[in-house]
Amino acid sequence: MKKIIYTQFGGPDVLQLVDAEVPRPGPGQVRIAVRATAVNAFDWRVREGQKLGAHPVRLPTGLGLDASGVVEEVGENVVGVDVGDAIFGEGVETYAESALMTRWHRMPAELSYAEAAGYPSVVETALRVLDEVGVQAGQTLLVSGAAGGVGSPVVQIARSRGISVIGVAGPENQDYLRSLGALATTYGEGWVERVRGLGRVDAALDLAGSGVVPSLVELAGDPDRVLTTADLDAPKYGVRFSGEAGDVGEALAQAACLVAKGDLRIPVAKTYSLEQAASAHVDSQAGHTRGRRIIVI
Ligand SMILES: NC(=O)c1ccc[n+]([C@@H]2O[C@H](COP(=O)([O-])OP(=O)(O)OC[C@H]3O[C@@H](n4cnc5c(N)ncnc54)[C@H](OP(=O)(O)O)[C@@H]3O)[C@@H](O)[C@H]2O)c1
Repeated sequence: MKKIIYTQFGGPDVLQLVDAEVPRPGPGQVRIAVRATAVNAFDWRVREGQKLGAHPVRLPTGLGLDASGVVEEVGENVVGVDVGDAIFGEGVETYAESALMTRWHRMPAELSYAEAAGYPSVVETALRVLDEVGVQAGQTLLVSGAAGGVGSPVVQIARSRGISVIGVAGPENQDYLRSLGALATTYGEGWVERVRGLGRVDAALDLAGSGVVPSLVELAGDPDRVLTTADLDAPKYGVRFSGEAGDVGEALAQAACLVAKGDLRIPVAKTYSLEQAASAHVDSQAGHTRGRRIIVI
């Protein structure tokens, strides 16, 4: 089978398409014929050699976490899934024609394989940060980086819970954020005043890591009501960094439920072939994705 690997840390050009052995599922795992896999910021951060303390990597390695596909083989102690089932979830080294999955759920009928691959890790993150920031129905949540992979489910899940949202994104994404039910404004010069003009802020999320944490504290009025997924300097301002993944199985079940109810749909910004994995990383690193970038096998 074909698979993307890298043998040294570096830029997108370290990614190589190689022939590899088809992996065999261990206990609690299944193997899928991958139909689609999502590009996460995590993938290119690890490829660059970032986060090595928290995520030690032995080279050569493959990459990729989120995938959708068709079950090809079922490991020991696995119940409730059969060869031929369409699933989506999290696995290991999913930029490949076949991959092992560790957490999965039956794929929602409403989604294509390309769409479904985009949900697992960003929905887990969205549910986690909404719970950790502690925002309630009837309150207003400010979201910086609202149009991206994590922002898209954050805005929609918040709206489905009766939370008002002020979303901050670039000019191209203002109508998109409004279509999700948020008030929208642009980042850049004067953005804090523009947010103030849209209303009072009860809690705030930094999903872009653009250095706005002190301003979010000012707007929310208390560092306890601010959370970031992207700014490692946040604790300097008394703000929590959320980095520990929650219950992925529960997140997949909730994603399927929200999709079925019409409360959640994450757009696919662009699809790529496995051979175009390096271009997908270049585009993701540019930092202006609406929804998800997906490699389709
Ligand atoms: N800690 C965790 O558990 C965890 C989990 C998932 C992700 N993350 C991190 O969270 C961050 C977001 O991930 P993602 O998947 O959502 O990324 P993404 O899909 O690349 O989205 C980034 C978004 O940020 C927006 N943006 C760019 N510059 C901005 C600025 N100055 N102000 C406000 N928004 C801006 C972009 O909107 P425009 O196109 O409109 O500019 C884009 O939609 C990444 O740093 C990722 O590594 C952390």
